[in-house]
Amino acid sequence: MRTRRPLIAGNWKMFKTCAEAVEAASRLVDLSSDANHTDIMIAPTFTSLALVSEKIAGSNVGLGAQNLFWESQGAFTGEISAQMLVSAGCRYVIIGHSERRQLFGETDESVNKKINAAIQSELIPVMCIGETESQRDADKTFSVLDKQVQMGLEGFSSGDLGSLVIAYEPVWAIGTGKTATSNQAQEVHRFLRSLIEKKFDKNLAESIRILYGGSVKPGNVAELMSMPDIDGALVGGASLDPEVFSKIIHF
Ligand code: 13P
Repeated sequence: MRTRRPLIAGNWKMFKTCAEAVEAASRLVDLSSDANHTDIMIAPTFTSLALVSEKIAGSNVGLGAQNLFWESQGAFTGEISAQMLVSAGCRYVIIGHSERRQLFGETDESVNKKINAAIQSELIPVMCIGETESQRDADKTFSVLDKQVQMGLEGFSSGDLGSLVIAYEPVWAIGTGKTATSNQAQEVHRFLRSLIEKKFDKNLAESIRILYGGSVKPGNVAELMSMPDIDGALVGGASLDPEVFSKIIHF
């Protein structure tokens, strides 16, 4: 029996205009109205957040942002704070996605500050971690993930992290059509749970939700979700079409 409530999350990345986001969100609300077995989150671009928030109000679809900045306000041109996300209707925020790490210079230190800012504003942080293909080939998967977890979660107590979600997204599986096998993913999720137990405590390790991300599709979600330590999915490409995403939600 599942002890942790699943979370199926859609990361829309840099796709959809405001009108397209509102239309997709509205369709998703209809398609997921019977999905009481899981939490659902969509993360549109910043420009669509407030509009999508109105559309999904009262539904079982939650709103997430794809990033934030850790300061609460100030002269930080182009940045958005946790409070601003809350005021736009967000409950979740994705932090440290591999695209942000690889393309925008995000580090474990910035991830750490962003998680803190999210927690202070009572946003649910979805911390993304994952190894590249060359790191996996060099047998460094566990040491890379260990460092990302240790540094990303440095300075917190287990009480701070009650809402934290971890998303394991092997970089080589993102947008490539290559999915980790369910056994590969389970092995890593088990490792991450034991890491959380060592760094914090058993309670947090048992309750923390660990999502898998990387080419999750309607055809592979059930197998992934059958694994004991996989508590949900962070979905990119297949979350853009509400009909397809709904199939994943109904895994
Ligand atoms: P894909 O599902 O397109 O592989 O993307 C995964 C991802 O990066 C979600 O954050």
